[in-house]
Amino acid sequence: MKKRMEIVAVKSGKGGCDKTTATINIAAADAVLFGKKILIIDTDGRAHTTSMFCDSLKHQIGDVLLDRVNALEAIEHTRWKNIDCIGCSEEINDDVKELEKNIFMDPMHRFGKVLNKISEMGVYDRCYIDCNQDPDLLAVNILLSADRVLIPARSDDYSLEGVHKMMDWIHQVSPARDNEIKTQVMITDKERNLESDDSVRKIKLLFGDHVCKTFVRHQAKVVQHSYKPAIRTPFVLAKKPSGVANDYIQLVKEIYEYE
Ligand SMILES: Nc1ncnc2c1ncn2[C@@H]1O[C@H](COP(=O)(O)OP(=O)(O)OP(=O)(O)O)[C@@H](O)[C@H]1O
Ligand SMILES: [Mg+2]
Repeated sequence: MKKRMEIVAVKSGKGGCDKTTATINIAAADAVLFGKKILIIDTDGRAHTTSMFCDSLKHQIGDVLLDRVNALEAIEHTRWKNIDCIGCSEEINDDVKELEKNIFMDPMHRFGKVLNKISEMGVYDRCYIDCNQDPDLLAVNILLSADRVLIPARSDDYSLEGVHKMMDWIHQVSPARDNEIKTQVMITDKERNLESDDSVRKIKLLFGDHVCKTFVRHQAKVVQHSYKPAIRTPFVLAKKPSGVANDYIQLVKEIYEYE
């Protein structure tokens, strides 16, 4: 029997709360360290995830959503054995506007249809989607098709707001879905101070069992280093081990209950 691809969206209602960092490192650990066959889809026009994984881009996700190309044609192989990627570019913003106008294309379910076709190939175990922070048409598409949503949160009160918004959006799409979305909140930048401890306490109080037990520590130097264009290596795959890489690996083990 062909395997069904699990769809994992990484999204929050707040900008700059580690969505891209989490997508890149969780997906890379899942693929390279735990042997899963992974497709990453970037849906953010700033294309940070794309520039990490793709050397060049013939097509972007908007071309697939608007039926200009088949999904297969947009899949790029990456330098890592188990990781493929569909990239994004700033054209996505115009493409989403075009999709909004075209009701004959069933605009709310375009993404789900594309993902179903990819899943039918039976190649991928999981698809990770790096999202923006907006409650836009793409968000509706993604929340209608995702099996799991990972919500990154920094250990501050602004992130708390981002988690709240996300939970609300998930709640709003739930009547249109057949099943519940698995939802996990991840503390992806835990600082060592009392304010940060207090924010984490609030997040745990509000979201209880949804909050992952593993926290990713704040480690500015390592994360900034990994974003240098010349390096382009997810820090979970870096030769030199770091605390933040170990935390992400532990987080992946917790999320998927790997041994
Ligand atoms: N554990 C960490 N320690 C220190 N810095 C971190 C950590 N995780 C992420 N960062 C930094 O936080 C910044 C924001 O991260 P990132 O780009 O992943 O967020 P984002 O949610 O994708 O942002 P956007 O909303 O712009 O897409 C980046 O500069 C990143 O290097
Ligand atoms: Mg991002």
